[in-house]
Amino acid sequence: MTRPSVLVTRPIMEAPLARLRERCDVTVDENDFGIPRDDLLETVAGREALITMLTEQVDAELLAAAGPQLRIVANHAVGFDNVNLADCSAARVMVSNTPDVLTETTADTAFALIMAAARRVGEGERFLRRREPWIWGPLMMLGQDVHHKTIGIVGFGRIGQAVARRAKGVGMEVIYTDAVTLPAEVEAETGARRVEMDELLRVADVISIHTNLTPETRHLFGAEQFRAMKPSAILVNTSRGPVVDEAALAAALASGEIFAAGLDVFEREPDVTPALLDLENAVAIPHLGSATVDTRDAMGHVAVDNVFAALDGERPPTLLNPDVLER
Ligand code: DGY
Repeated sequence: MTRPSVLVTRPIMEAPLARLRERCDVTVDENDFGIPRDDLLETVAGREALITMLTEQVDAELLAAAGPQLRIVANHAVGFDNVNLADCSAARVMVSNTPDVLTETTADTAFALIMAAARRVGEGERFLRRREPWIWGPLMMLGQDVHHKTIGIVGFGRIGQAVARRAKGVGMEVIYTDAVTLPAEVEAETGARRVEMDELLRVADVISIHTNLTPETRHLFGAEQFRAMKPSAILVNTSRGPVVDEAALAAALASGEIFAAGLDVFEREPDVTPALLDLENAVAIPHLGSATVDTRDAMGHVAVDNVFAALDGERPPTLLNPDVLER
């Protein structure tokens, strides 16, 4: 029996890869900077399954290059703004993502950025590493308290709720915006209250973004929103970079319109607006939200589970385009 041919566009954790190799012919692209588009279009040809990353655009062009035998694109991420679901459904290709397994880890990253931005951790560390003379002082590098302040969560899905639970643990008041009001038990567990965006901007001491990237959420945060925030406020983004207008954020941080920002994601990754990197009140890390050993292992297994289900003619456990099953 011929073994299905699978392309994995970046190296993933060894255990899920070994599982995949047990039953498929697997090619893993080893390019450190991601597979160039032309090479990708060439190497997808004839594959039955692709495990893709947020760094690859999955669209009609790629699906045509792959060919009609392609059954599934298993995106190795919870976010799937890099995948055109309509194009995949039209080509009868299933799409899956890796939700749930990264929820708590990404919430940890958001909280780490909240604390680092509020308490000037990056700035303090850079200061020490410059080996400048210093002595403890009562006015040295004063930050903002996080405990018992108000956190505004933008997008109250799985990750937003996990951040809310952490916030509740340090005595924060939790408010949120979302297209829908969450069930009473979710609000009760986190003590969260739904508010309109203008109230959230006005009263939150910390704003943490957990919304998907859609045409509606692109530049949801720009000059107007920063003007509406408190000068002591902290903005954290672990969702997708384009939700924030990066140039406007750099201007707001430079002028003191807001106190600090913690960023895991950027508008034009891997580029970062240079002004942000020159600002002491911007904490920036390179899209590490789900980057732990356990979570990347679990994400790899979810992607492989989805590939196996598709190859077996079953419904992939985290299928994103169920309409494809009716075609
Ligand atoms: C995701 O899963 O969408 C993250 O951004 C990468 O792990």
